[in-house]
Amino acid sequence: MSEKSIRVENLIKNFGEGESLVEVIDGASFSIDKGELVALTAPSGAGKTTLLMMIGCVEEPTSGTIYLGDEKVYDNKWLTKETRKIRREKIGFIFQAHHLIPFLTVLENVTLVPQTNGISKKDSEKDAMELLKYFEISDKANATSAQLSGGQNQRVSIARALANKPEIILADEPTAALDLKRSVDVVKMLKKIAVDQNVAVVIVTHDEAMYPLCDRIIKIENKKVISTEVNS
Ligand SMILES: Nc1ncnc2c1ncn2[C@@H]1O[C@H](COP(=O)(O)OP(=O)(O)O)[C@@H](O)[C@H]1O
Ligand SMILES: [Mg+2]
Repeated sequence: MSEKSIRVENLIKNFGEGESLVEVIDGASFSIDKGELVALTAPSGAGKTTLLMMIGCVEEPTSGTIYLGDEKVYDNKWLTKETRKIRREKIGFIFQAHHLIPFLTVLENVTLVPQTNGISKKDSEKDAMELLKYFEISDKANATSAQLSGGQNQRVSIARALANKPEIILADEPTAALDLKRSVDVVKMLKKIAVDQNVAVVIVTHDEAMYPLCDRIIKIENKKVISTEVNS
């Protein structure tokens, strides 16, 4: 039986109140299994980033329920004071821009979060070098991001997202700055990671060329999740 990695029930998100009230998500319910690569799509401004950041325990919902794995993390309020700890331990984030720290090397960028989580320098560097090898970029371990191409930086940022051995990978338009070939490479890479590491991967994308590479497409329209299509 497939195991649920993400489950949200009746999730609601409003910003502001009174005259400045913006209703963004009005009752989203869906789940994502371990090993699944799901595309999240919606028109611009429809709440994709907001939904992703709620799942990632960055943005506080207005109400609803969020489960990450077996753990209920939100039930009309955060169920822990330490959302930051959940983020650091369970979630790997990938963004459109690579967000690598410019004055650190590739290796230092990838080992930063594991070391914050208490992994020793030696062990974190060993894990990081394996990841960099997997992404065929270990020869750049001591370079800084300014010395890398766009595609190489995005590979490092994916390696960094994996470095804390997350249960969930959340990628917000990770291919928006890449050409078609590199986009396909990145999405295929994310699918391989989902399967190899049995993690749930959610990618926000507008790019229909990526849909066939995903297991499922979740669409938001008019503040609702309107469909979750399974790709055959
Ligand atoms: N911090 C905020 N305060 C007020 N409104 C916000 C905030 N963040 C996002 N919004 C609004 O929520 C809506 C959804 O934004 P977003 O999730 O970024 O959309 P998408 O990622 O689909 O383009 C937009 O109308 C945006 O203006
Ligand atoms: Mg967005």
